[in-house]
Formats: sequence, C-alpha cells, structure tokens
Amino acid sequence: MSTAVAIISSVSGTAAVVVMIALIKRCLRFRKKMKKKMLHRIAKEATEHHRKLEAQDAMDSVMIEIGPVEKFLNEILSEKPMRFTSEQLAACTRCYSSELGSGGFGVVYRGELPNGLQVAVKVLKVSMNKKVQEAFMAEIGTIGRTYHVHLVRLYGFCFDADTKALVYEFLENGSLEKYLYDGEDRGRLEWRTLHDIAVGTAKGIRYLHEECQQRIVHYDIKPANILLTADFTPKVADFGLARLGERENTHMSLTGGRGTPGYAAPELWMALPATEKCDVYSFGMVLFEILGRRRNYDLAQAESQEWFPKWVWDRYEQGDIECVVSVAGIGEADRVKAEMMCKVALWCVQFQPSARPTMSSVVRMLEGEMAIVPPVNPFHYIMGGGGSSSSMLTSSGGTTLSSSDTTRGSSEMAVSPPAKKSIDVMVE
Ligand SMILES: Nc1ncnc2c1ncn2[C@@H]1O[C@H](COP(=O)(O)OP(=O)(O)OP(=O)(O)O)[C@@H](O)[C@H]1O
Ligand SMILES: [Mg+2]
Repeated sequence: MSTAVAIISSVSGTAAVVVMIALIKRCLRFRKKMKKKMLHRIAKEATEHHRKLEAQDAMDSVMIEIGPVEKFLNEILSEKPMRFTSEQLAACTRCYSSELGSGGFGVVYRGELPNGLQVAVKVLKVSMNKKVQEAFMAEIGTIGRTYHVHLVRLYGFCFDADTKALVYEFLENGSLEKYLYDGEDRGRLEWRTLHDIAVGTAKGIRYLHEECQQRIVHYDIKPANILLTADFTPKVADFGLARLGERENTHMSLTGGRGTPGYAAPELWMALPATEKCDVYSFGMVLFEILGRRRNYDLAQAESQEWFPKWVWDRYEQGDIECVVSVAGIGEADRVKAEMMCKVALWCVQFQPSARPTMSSVVRMLEGEMAIVPPVNPFHYIMGGGGSSSSMLTSSGGTTLSSSDTTRGSSEMAVSPPAKKSIDVMVE
C-alpha cells in the first residue's frame, strides 16, 4: 500500500514538474512574441516620424528656396523657371497622392507650393539620352520664358537623376475635352463660351507662331491640351514638349509620325517636313469638335456623320450650312458665329499646308474682322483617283492661301486625288 502511494506521488510530482516547465516555456514564448510586437510597433512609429520629419524638411527647403511670395515673383520676373529636387516635389504633391490625369509623357499630379500657389506636376516618363537631356534643358529655358494669357505657365522643373518633371500653373477647370464629349460636363458650357474658348486658344497659338521671341510649333494641338481657368479662360498646354523624345505609342500615329491621330496634319503622319501650319490643321480639327460638341470620329453616329469634318464639308458644298448649325443645337443668336467657325475650320484643314491660313488670319476671321472666302474642298485627297498624297504634299503645285490670300479666294486647288488609305490613318 505504502509502495503504491509512493509510486503515485512520484508520478504526480513528475507530471506537475512537466506541466510547470511547459507553462514556463509558454510564458517565455509569449513574452518574446509581445516584445517582438512592441519593437515592431516602435520601429514603425519611428519610421513614420522620420518620414514626417523628412517631408517637413523638404517643405522647409522649398520654403527656403522659394521664400516669400515677393521672392517667388522676382524669380518669375527674372524669367527663370525654378529648379526643384525630387524630395521637394514629393512634399509639394503630398507624395504624389492626387492624380489629375495622364498622357503620352507621363502622369500629372496636383500640388501646392509652400506659398499656397496651386501647381500641376507632370512627371515625365520619357527616356532621355544625353542629347535629349540637353534638349530638355534648352526647352525648359524657352518654355519658361514664354508667357501669354492664353498659354499655361511653367513655374519650374525637376532634373534629378531619378525624377524629371515639369511644374505648371494649376488650371481649376481641367481640359476642354470633358466639356465636349460624353460625360457629366458635356453641355455645361454655352456655345458662346465655347466660341470664346476657340478664339482664346487661337490667340495662344498665334503667340507661339508669330509673336514670341523664339517661335514654337506645338505639334499636338487637341482639346486635351487646352486647359481652362476657373472663369473658363483657355490656355494652351504642353507647348515646347515635342522635342523631349518619344512618347508612349498610344499617342503616336500608326505611321510613327508626330502628334495625336485625328488631329495630326497629313504631313505629320506621313513623316514629311512640317511647319507651323500643322498646328493650324489640328486647330481646325478642334474647331469641328467645338462646332459639333462631339468627337470628330464617332462610330456611334449615323454612317454619313461618322467623320464629322467630311459631313460638314458635304453640307457646306450643298449650300446647307444651316443644317450643321441646327444639328449641333446652336441657337439662332449664335448662328452667324457658328457659320464663320465652320468656314474657318474648313480652311484650316486644307490638305496643302500652304493653303491653310496663318493663325493671325484665323483669329481675325473668327472675330469677324476679316472676310472669309468660301472654302474649297479640303478632302480631295480622300475622294478616289490616282496619285500619292505624299507627292501631292511635296509638290509645289498647290494654291497658296496666305493670310492676305484668304480675302482673294482660291478655288482651283491643284491637289491631285488621294491614296485612299490615308483616311484610315487619319480618322483613327
Ligand atoms: N496645368 C494643369 N492644370 C490642371 N489640370 C491639368 C494640368 N495639366 C494637365 N492636367 C490634367 O491632366 C490630364 C493629362 O494631361 P497630359 O498632358 O499628361 O495628357 P494629354 O494632354 O491627354 O496628352 P499629351 O501627353 O499628348 O499632352 C489633362 O487632360 C488635364 O485634365
Ligand atoms: Mg497635355
């Protein structure tokens, strides 16, 4: 009996010891886990704090560089775009947290300088070899010195090893695009406002071509590059960017030329030498979209109206310009202006660059200060027949319609008919 008791007590003693050891081990593991968790939390808090300090530092250094508003204005007056570091841009944009949109060159973010100035920061994705880097700096100089009420202002740039960016003035109402095409803002603007936007845009381009110190061809005029202030004053964006290297394929024509399909002049998508008249062509395409408040090429329309510019020409040729105005829902009060816009658009998109008016003539015609000669057919080249459209462009046979010519008329355009497939490229 006493042996049995001894065995039982020794077994239960051993069991108690084993349980105690297990409990102690578990406690130790739990403590270790808690300690690890605490250390992790402390480390996370420290990193957060460090990041905040870094952002604050960057803010401070922007503050130091930019200083008070007066100093900032002095920089502007001395015509020097400011150079930002990538840390400063990260601070201005709150770590690139608010995206405004994206395009062929990269993504655009909203930002605010420490003096309260609202900016749009375009972070460039283009690949830059040494030659392009030099061109970049040269272009920054030109763009930064080019101011006009109808041009988007460049405040500064970033040229760090890992970040290349442009800092522009911020335009509250975004691009014209959203007021023309389907979406909640379509129809928000009266047609008269759209007309004023067209005139302002034409003045901005006129300045680039004819008035500023260093003449600039834009190469990419389109509604997305016409930005609007809070009171819908238009400003042309992205001038001077054409030489900054290759953009993403979505923005290139299939032929590898420059510009955006649908707006790019024939000489651009045929990769022929181009002049400022390619901007006149693209502006004409924008005028058609303003007239119709629609995309020029729209498969949702009736077949005859799929490509709006051609439909407008057909109506015009048949003496039925009123039809265009009424289909576009433009009221009687704006009829005269709309008809003028229609004719100017038809002149701007002439196949021969020399037949297109200059931008100063465009402004005067749109403002009713210059008589508009009846336009000739801009679409000969897509209407069948022999001949290649590129030889038509390079030949000197076309009738020239310079600014002064516009008042004379030019009914016999010597353009030979087209390579039919041109239209496929053009209306993409
Ligand atoms: N300065 C700005 N102020 C306000 N919004 C802007 C500004 N710049 C650009 N945006 C917005 O960002 C969008 C994208 O601009 P981005 O220039 O990158 O593309 P895109 O104009 O469509 O094409 P592209 O690269 O051919 O110019 C614009 O449509 C516009 O809504
Ligand atoms: Mg743009």
